Amino acid sequence: MKILVTGGAGYIGSHVVKALGEKGYKVLVVDNLSKGHKEAVLYGKLVVADLEDKNTLDVIFKEFRPDAVMHFAAFIEVAQSLREPLKYYKNNTVNTINLLEVMLKNGVNKFIFSSTAAVYGNPEKVPIPEIEPIKPINPYGQSKAFVEKVLQDFDKSYGLKYVSLRYFNAAGADPEGRIGESHDPETHLIPLILKTAKGEKESIKIFGTDYPTPDGTCIRDYIHVDDLAEAHILALEYLLNGGSSEVFNCGYGHGFSVREVIDTARKVTGIDFKVEETERRPGDPAILVADSSKLRKVLDWKPKFDDLEYIIRTAWNWERRRERGQE
Ligand code: UFG
Repeated sequence: MKILVTGGAGYIGSHVVKALGEKGYKVLVVDNLSKGHKEAVLYGKLVVADLEDKNTLDVIFKEFRPDAVMHFAAFIEVAQSLREPLKYYKNNTVNTINLLEVMLKNGVNKFIFSSTAAVYGNPEKVPIPEIEPIKPINPYGQSKAFVEKVLQDFDKSYGLKYVSLRYFNAAGADPEGRIGESHDPETHLIPLILKTAKGEKESIKIFGTDYPTPDGTCIRDYIHVDDLAEAHILALEYLLNGGSSEVFNCGYGHGFSVREVIDTARKVTGIDFKVEETERRPGDPAILVADSSKLRKVLDWKPKFDDLEYIIRTAWNWERRRERGQE
């Protein structure tokens, strides 16, 4: 089976490419390397191309003839999306429609989409079930919510079969330390904490201590990136076996506050780094925790790394390995 993976040189994409390769799938990564790293592609071939360029995409599809497409390529920074919404609607929404158009033109109708918990905005119910209303509070979440709507319509009219995976907070790294999280600029909590522990940053800032949570800081459902990768493999097998279109939340079903993540990182690293309490970051919901019972039941997903200490340890191994120049 041949799988075309956009954004396969990025953080989550590269872990899914690793999982696909280990399972014997033939992989073609399409990535413009605007954010990704070519050395993160452990299996298959990498073609450097942009999803804006439909003609090149068409040639790639005609040559590779994929059985299914997994689509990771996207911008992911909530704060940036509030400053530059056009970037998000172009790259995340318009370019996804380009990709779908080329897929359908080439007779490919199986699609795994990287969606996000950000489509829920400030949910009324926590843990969040998939049937919770779609009410994003930032352009990033809206750019993904639009695609989910397009997917529904393309299923009805063109017979597209898709699985939309709504990620909560992907974290951690390959347990063997070959690949990990490496964004530029880095905005995510765990890598920023670890950079602070390494002395690359003077302090870690807590964005808001007045949220309606037990310790006043935001709560997130941190899911190990390899457990998330496994959800993609199961979703792919489901579609290849003729499954109908579905949406699944991807998280463990319980969360940790920013303070709890910091305390766990102190324990894992053994380093007492500096913490500063600051203002809220715009666009951050107080609590995002997945109800992932549907993923467990329908796809028989059995996570292996539901342990914050372990997640942070794999991320710490990766950070230290990069420090030693073994990236
Ligand atoms: N945080 C801090 N200090 C920092 C960085 C983050 O306190 O220096 C806090 C944030 O305010 C938030 C939590 O740590 O409460 C997690 O923040 P991240 O930036 O690591 O992750 P987000 O929850 O903002 O974002 C993630 C994905 C997004 C996705 C979102 C869903 O990275 O792509 O989940 O809401 F949109």
